[in-house]
Formats: sequence, C-alpha cells, structure tokens
Amino acid sequence: MARNPENGADALEILTLAGNLTSIMDLDFLLQRIGDVAQSMLNCEASSIMLLDEERKSLYFKLATGAKGSVMKKMVIPVGQGIAGWVAEHKETVVVNDTKKDPRFAGHFDKASGFVTRQLLAVPMIMKGELIGVAEVLNRRDNSEFTDYDVKVFTSLANLAAAAISNTRQMQTQKNFFSHVLEMLGESIEAVSPKLDSHPANTAYLACAIARKLGVEDADYRNIYYAGLLHDIGYIGLKNRRLVSEASLVLSSLPPEEQHVAMSVKMLEGILIFRGALPVIRHHHEKFDGSGYPAKLSGEAIPLGARILRLVESLEELRMSAGLSGDELRQRAKAELGNGSGKLFDPRVVQAALQILGDDNKTWVF
Ligand SMILES: [Fe+2]
Ligand SMILES: [Fe+2]
Repeated sequence: MARNPENGADALEILTLAGNLTSIMDLDFLLQRIGDVAQSMLNCEASSIMLLDEERKSLYFKLATGAKGSVMKKMVIPVGQGIAGWVAEHKETVVVNDTKKDPRFAGHFDKASGFVTRQLLAVPMIMKGELIGVAEVLNRRDNSEFTDYDVKVFTSLANLAAAAISNTRQMQTQKNFFSHVLEMLGESIEAVSPKLDSHPANTAYLACAIARKLGVEDADYRNIYYAGLLHDIGYIGLKNRRLVSEASLVLSSLPPEEQHVAMSVKMLEGILIFRGALPVIRHHHEKFDGSGYPAKLSGEAIPLGARILRLVESLEELRMSAGLSGDELRQRAKAELGNGSGKLFDPRVVQAALQILGDDNKTWVF
C-alpha cells in the first residue's frame, strides 16, 4: 500500500480497524490485521506485538509478522533487556534508525532468530495507565528514517491493539465469573434437599441434548441450558423469609406445588441475561394436553424449551423419587415417555428423547 498522509488514507485504514474492534471477536485475527496494516502502512519488513508477563517480568510474543516471525514468536524478552525491554521498563516510545549506534540494542535476539534488525520503532501499549505490552515495527524497506508522523500512526495502531487485548481480557474475566456463579447456583439448589442431588446439572444436560436433536438455534439453546440449571432456584427463595414475605400476595394464591415456579421467576426476572429463559421456567409444568400449570397452556402454545423441560422433569422424577438407575431407569423412562406422549409431553420431544435414550444404552445421569 502506498503511504499517502495527505489524502487521509492512513487515517481511513486506522478508522476501519477501530470499527472492527467491537465486531471482530477473534483477538488473534484482529491483532494480525493490525500488524499487517502497520507493516504495510509504515513500509516495514516486520511487525510484532509483545505482551507483558507481570509475574515473570518479561515480554512474550503475541504476534510476529515477517520472514522470521515464527522463530521470534518462541522468544521471551526480559523487561529491561534490549530495546523492547527498555520500552517496557520506561513506558516510552523509542525510535532507532541505526541499531548499530544504539547501546540498548541486544544483538543476541537477532542471532537467535536469524533476523537482522537495522531499524526499529517501538511503542509501549498502555491501557488505563497500565502497561500491557510493546509493539514494534522493524526495518524500513527503503531504509528511510522513521518520522514523527510514523510515530503518530504507529502509536494509534498500538492503542487499538491495546484496546482489543484489554476488551478480550475483560470479557474472559466476565465469562469466568459467570460460569462459576452458575455452577455455584446449581450447587446451592442441590443443597436445598438431598432429593435434588445432581438435578440441575442432569436436567440441563438432557434438556440441551434434546434441544440439539430438535435443531434448536443458539440463543434458544442457551436459554434452555440456563432454565435447566436454574428452574428450581425458587426452592431456595421459599426458604428465605424476606423473599417469601415480598411475594406473599402471589404465593398465597397458589397451591404449594406451583409456588417454586413463581419464586424461581421472581428471583431471576431482574437479570437481563436470563430474560429468554424465564418463559421456559415459568411454563415448565404445563402439560401438552393443557392440564398443567400455571397457565394451562396446551400444544405449541407452550414454549418449546418448556415442553422439553417438562419431559426432563418427569424422567428426573423417576430417578429422584423412585430411586432408579442404570438400565432399569432407562427402561422405565422409555415406558413413561410412551405413556405420556401427546398427553403430558409433546410427541416430537418424546421422539428426540427416545433417540437419546436409545443411543449407546446410556441414561442422562452423570
Ligand atoms: Fe426440577
Ligand atoms: Fe419444577
């Protein structure tokens, strides 16, 4: 790509990358794109992005383009060593137009990689005052010196890379937190009664297996997973005096077996991510023939996830209350499905469940 600061081509390229920041979820792909653009825009032979390993006080390569990129990616640079190490230590940009004249340049990294560094531009990647890593471009193809304009362009690209890395880390932290909280909630439901041992995880597992067989789309599939894990969370709420008194008006109008459903919905309704799971939970005791609760819905008026959960609840009841396991449980489950098809259960869901129970003589129990 020809460099043409006057017509704003560089700015346009950077803006396009900035736009991609939120839409491209694959961090490696985005960093590769930023590295390629930097290399091309600054007319250089190679570019790299190194990240700080705070514990080891060193930089490791997240990206290395150019002829020796794959060799460089295996290298580790201690903070304080070489130019990149100096940039990490001082959090300052460095322009070296002739490495032979710079005492900070550590030639042994070139020896190890086989790359000959003549020039480099290195900038610290900083997010909210914290050093994330160092970005570098190496060797101008036409041997011209790096200019102030080059420093500005490369700093913008390095800032984009820093933002992408920081976003990804934040997302990973949130995902990690969320999956652990979900697991803890499942365990808390089990703790309410010995009868509920493994019930949330078994329910989520079988409900998701049935949903997959029925070709349920990703968002609905996730809602069925959440509903499988959390549909009985109301049993915890029913043991909490404050929650019971807050919901007393609703609870007093319901027969005891319906109360846990209303409480589950009450406990989860403020959490945006569970919004799609609520109809599945609310209607998981409806029956296909319309004789269930709470709304006496029938047939396809019952959300598909709730029809699936209804069936799984009945099979889990066999395991939990009748104390069945292994082949005996599987045979009884099949009979239950046959008897309930079209009355308790959606026949299409029954077929999917029968297929799962038929596969490899397995039950759904962990
Ligand atoms: Fe349940
Ligand atoms: Fe239930």
